[in-house]
Amino acid sequence: MAKVLVIGGAGYIGSHVVKALMKGGHEVCVYDNLSTGQEVNLFKQNRFIKADILDYEALVKAMQGQDAVIHLAAKKAVGESMENPMKYSTNNITGSLNILNAMVEAGTKYMVFSSSAAVYGMPKVEVIDESVPTEPINYYGFTKLEIEKFMQWYDRLKGIKFVALRYFNAVGYDEDGEIRGREVNPQNLLPIIMEVYEGKRDKLKIFGNDYPTRDGTCIRDYIHVSDLASAHVLALEKLMSGMASQSLNLGTEKGTSVKEMVEAVEKVKGCKIPVEYAPRRAGDPAALIASAKKARELLGWKPEFTDICRIVKTQA
Ligand code: UD1
Repeated sequence: MAKVLVIGGAGYIGSHVVKALMKGGHEVCVYDNLSTGQEVNLFKQNRFIKADILDYEALVKAMQGQDAVIHLAAKKAVGESMENPMKYSTNNITGSLNILNAMVEAGTKYMVFSSSAAVYGMPKVEVIDESVPTEPINYYGFTKLEIEKFMQWYDRLKGIKFVALRYFNAVGYDEDGEIRGREVNPQNLLPIIMEVYEGKRDKLKIFGNDYPTRDGTCIRDYIHVSDLASAHVLALEKLMSGMASQSLNLGTEKGTSVKEMVEAVEKVKGCKIPVEYAPRRAGDPAALIASAKKARELLGWKPEFTDICRIVKTQA
């Protein structure tokens, strides 16, 4: 059993991580400023601190007596990061440095960090393992990569052991329906398709149907949020039993095209989703599929949600 401070624990991925930690018998304290996280995502059993990662004193206080930190607090809109880099420098980079410094001050030794496949940019290969060069093409991805580098230095200098989990495309919600908060104004493919289904939008714009893929639309590796969550718990437990610091991909190792995602929603919901083909979106690689061999081998992790229809069923 570990005492874990989950920073960003009221958010989409954080709330699923909290549930998985509790299931694993760990003691959780959630730290969140509720800017995008939601109170409805908090579990009553846990301590909750409403504070910002830019508040260094609050972080040091919250860190007292904690064995480990899981850090999921970040701004994550790729487009916005290109227009307002300062917001991402401050929240993602300064905020994460505050967390690392507070860990040093409080003597907390372990950190699991939510990184992203965005650190790879536009890789030349389709299947991506951790040896693929990290060359982010958006500022959001750059902030995630820089934080990974800071963690490497804090490991060397201060002995903080970390796992950076590079998520591919996170999707779905808790299958038991226990986590009820839904993202406001979602920007990602599956929640947008669901909004079309619910009548909140007229149609889905498919960005590009002339990619060199099986049906011309982009291929991504959609990984269920509960599978991401279980990887955080395993990463924490392995770190605490002596595993060296690591960066690990998390994906299903299976690609789904935009069209296939639309078809899955149509099948699950028994409806027709109106679509319109639009030009390619800047910065979209044709296909991004994870090799998660390293996570499988080092953590003993295996995604449970490999069927896209099962994933879609959890989304509503
Ligand atoms: C990107 C980031 C990812 C980040 C996520 C958060 C990269 C490599 N990945 O993923 O790290 O966590 O954003 O926002 O930078 N699409 C449409 N129509 C739409 C919306 C999406 O056709 O209305 C298509 C996109 O072109 C893409 C796929 O659906 O091919 C998935 O898009 P999206 O959900 O935005 O995620 P990514 O851009 O893959």
